[in-house]
Amino acid sequence: MDAIEAIMTRRSVRHFTRQPVTDAELETVLRAAMAAPSAHNQRPWRFVAVRDRATLDRLATATMWATPVGRAQAAIVVYSERIALRAPGFWSIDCAAAIQNLLLAAHAGGLGAVWIGVYPITPFRRAVRKVLGLPATAAVHSMVALGHPERTPEPVDRWNPDWVRNV
Ligand SMILES: Cc1cc2nc3c(=O)[nH]c(=O)nc-3n(C[C@H](O)[C@H](O)[C@H](O)COP(=O)(O)O)c2cc1C
Repeated sequence: MDAIEAIMTRRSVRHFTRQPVTDAELETVLRAAMAAPSAHNQRPWRFVAVRDRATLDRLATATMWATPVGRAQAAIVVYSERIALRAPGFWSIDCAAAIQNLLLAAHAGGLGAVWIGVYPITPFRRAVRKVLGLPATAAVHSMVALGHPERTPEPVDRWNPDWVRNV
């Protein structure tokens, strides 16, 4: 699958089989995340790769829309350490770029995934931090539920030429 095909056919997957996510699969998607562009190349992202069932179940109730995490074989929690960044205002955009890379790598590798928003909702961020025992310095961004798809949603074409202005 080439890059354009991966981008155009990726859909959110919220139901997964019981087939585990391997170490190699996790490393591939994390490598893709870390390959993302970031402001000043500051790479503010940090990751928690979760496969422990009890922890997945607790994360599934940490936000209002995280139920897919409870059905997933793995989740990746994306956060940033509040370290001295060169462009601190860009940390959440940088993390979002990493997450999109991760979703595309998962899809291209035959996994299903869904982005679970956490930032900027403070109670959700606190809840995730608490489940993982992360320090107060950890700025939680998002979760990604991962696994082998129970079914693969059809691609959708969202092209809208009205949203493009040619000058
Ligand atoms: C910032 C962000 C937060 C999201 N949060 C959730 C979430 O909490 N739970 C969920 O099931 N899907 C979540 N999604 C997935 C969107 O619902 C999904 O991407 C959108 O409906 C488009 O569908 P598609 O991903 O299949 O193209 C989120 C997506 C983004 C980009």
